[in-house]
Amino acid sequence: MAVAGSPPTQPGPELGAKDKREHWSGQTAFILAAVGSAVGLGNIWRFPGEAYDNGGGAFMIPYLVALLTAGIPILLLEHGIGHRFRGSAPLTFRRIHRRAEGVGWWHVAICFVIGLYYTAIIAWALSYFVFSFDLSYADDPSGYFYGDFLHLTESVGFSLDFVPGVLIPLALVWIVAIVVLWLGVSGGVEKLNVIGIPLLVVTFTILVVRALFLDGAAEGLDALFTPDFSALSNPDVWIAAYGQIFFSLSLAYGVMVTYASYRRRRSNVTSPALVVAFGNSAFELLAGIGVFATIGFLAVQQGVGVNELTNLTGVSLSFITFPTVIGQMPGGEVFGALFFGSLVIAGVTSLVSVLQTVSSALQDKFGWTPRQGALAVGLPSAVLSLVGFGTTTGLYLLDTVDQFSNQLGIVMGAILMIGASLWLARRGPELSRHLSAISTFAVGKVWLVVINVVSLLLIYMFVDKLVSLIVDGYGTYPAWYLALFGWGTMAFITAVALAMPALRWAKDHGEFHPWPTRAQLHLPPEGDRRPDAPAGPQAPVQGGAA
Ligand code: PHE
Repeated sequence: MAVAGSPPTQPGPELGAKDKREHWSGQTAFILAAVGSAVGLGNIWRFPGEAYDNGGGAFMIPYLVALLTAGIPILLLEHGIGHRFRGSAPLTFRRIHRRAEGVGWWHVAICFVIGLYYTAIIAWALSYFVFSFDLSYADDPSGYFYGDFLHLTESVGFSLDFVPGVLIPLALVWIVAIVVLWLGVSGGVEKLNVIGIPLLVVTFTILVVRALFLDGAAEGLDALFTPDFSALSNPDVWIAAYGQIFFSLSLAYGVMVTYASYRRRRSNVTSPALVVAFGNSAFELLAGIGVFATIGFLAVQQGVGVNELTNLTGVSLSFITFPTVIGQMPGGEVFGALFFGSLVIAGVTSLVSVLQTVSSALQDKFGWTPRQGALAVGLPSAVLSLVGFGTTTGLYLLDTVDQFSNQLGIVMGAILMIGASLWLARRGPELSRHLSAISTFAVGKVWLVVINVVSLLLIYMFVDKLVSLIVDGYGTYPAWYLALFGWGTMAFITAVALAMPALRWAKDHGEFHPWPTRAQLHLPPEGDRRPDAPAGPQAPVQGGAA
C-alpha cells in the first residue's frame, strides 16, 4: 500500500534546525547497531536450549510463526514509532499521546534493571575468557564456577561479602560501557558495533566450523533438529517461541524505538528492519548449530545420549557444560577463548543498547548532554550492580530479577506499547503510512491486523506468567526473597512509570511536527478522528524531493 504517489519533499529547514538529535552516520551503522542489540546472550545461550526443550526441529515452526507474526511486525512498529516521533522512549510516547509518557518510562526502567545484571554476565564471560588461557576451570567446572569463582553461598540470601574475582571484571565492564556512552551515538555506540559485529561473526563462525569437526557433532545436531511434532499441540511451546523472539530481537524494551530515533528523517524504514530480523535469526541458528555440535562431542566422550545430558541452557550451559567440553577437546584453550570472547562481544553490544535507552531518556527529560546522560546512568548503575552482583549471592539475585523483569515486565511493556500507540492514540494508519511513505516496501492493513491479534496472545502470556508466579513462585526461592527482589523489581518498574511523567520536563522540546506531515500522508488533521474526515487542508506534497 504505497501512500504517496511520489515521495514527500524533504523536511523543511526549520524542522532540521530544531532537530539537534544525535545521528547515526548512515543506514549501515544503524543496522549494525540494531543487530548488535539483538544478537546477544539470548542467541548464544538461550536459543539452543529453548529449541531443544521445545520440540527440537519442530520448534522451528512456532519460532518462524512467531518471527513473522510478532517479531517483524513489532520491530516495524518500534522502528516506525521511533523514526516518526524522534525521541527517547518517554519523549516518543509523550508525542504519541500526552498521557502515554509512562509507557516509555516502563521500558526505560526495565532497561535500567537489565543493565545491572547483564553487565555481571559479561564480567563472568570476560573472566572465563582469561581463564581459557590455562583452562583453570576445566578440572571441575561446576565446583569451579559456583565455588572458586562465584563463592556462591549455600543458601539463598543477600550478603555484602564481595568477591574480588567478580568485582574487578564487573567494574571493568562498567568503565567500558560508560566510556562508549560518553563518546556518543556515532562516536561510541556506532563505532563499537561497526567493529564488534563483524568481529563477532568472524570469531563465532570459526568456533562453529571447529565444532562441526568434533567427534559426535552429528549426534548433537540430530538431537537439536529431530522434530517432535507432538510439541506443537502444547501451548507452552508456542509461548516459548514468542518469548524467545521478543527477547532476542530486543522488542518492547524501548531500545529499537531509541535506536530508530537517531536515524535521519529521510530514511528507508522497513527494509533495515527485515535485515535486522533475519540477521538475528541467522545468527541464532548458527549458534544452535555450534552449541549442539559441541554438546554432541560431550555426549560421545561420556558415552551417553545427548538426551541424558543436563545443563543445556543459560548460565549453566555457558559456565559449566562448555567448560567441561573445552577441557576434553584438543586445543581447548583456543576454543574457550573464542567462545567466551564471543559472549563478551555479543553481550557488550547489547548492554550498550539498554544503557543508551536509559541515557537518552534522561537527556530528553532533563536536558542533559550525552556525556551527562552517560554518567547519570552509568555511575549509579555501576554502584548498584557491584553491590548486587559482585557478592557471594549475586547469582541468586540475577536469576530472580531476570525472571521478573524479563518474563513479566517485557510482555507488559509490549502490551502497553501497542495499547498506547494503536488503541489510545489510534496512530495505526499514521504509522503504517509513515512506514510506507519513504521505504522500499510498504506495509498495510494486514500489518495492523496482525499486531492486534498478537496483542491478544501477549495478554494471555502475561496473565499466564503472572498467575504462575503468584501461585507457584519461582524455582526454589523462599517467598520472602521473591517478594523483596522479584515483586520488588516489578514495584520499582511500576513506580518509575507512574512517577516520572509527573516530573516537569527540564528541556523544552518545542512544538513537534512529524515528517511527513499528516496531510502528506493523506490523513485528516490531528484530533479529527472521524473515519471519513477530509484529508488536511493542503494538498499532499508531490515530488520535488532532492
Ligand atoms: N536481544 C538481546 C539478546 O538476545 C538481549 C537484549 C534484550 C538486549 C533487550 C538488549 C535489550 O541477548
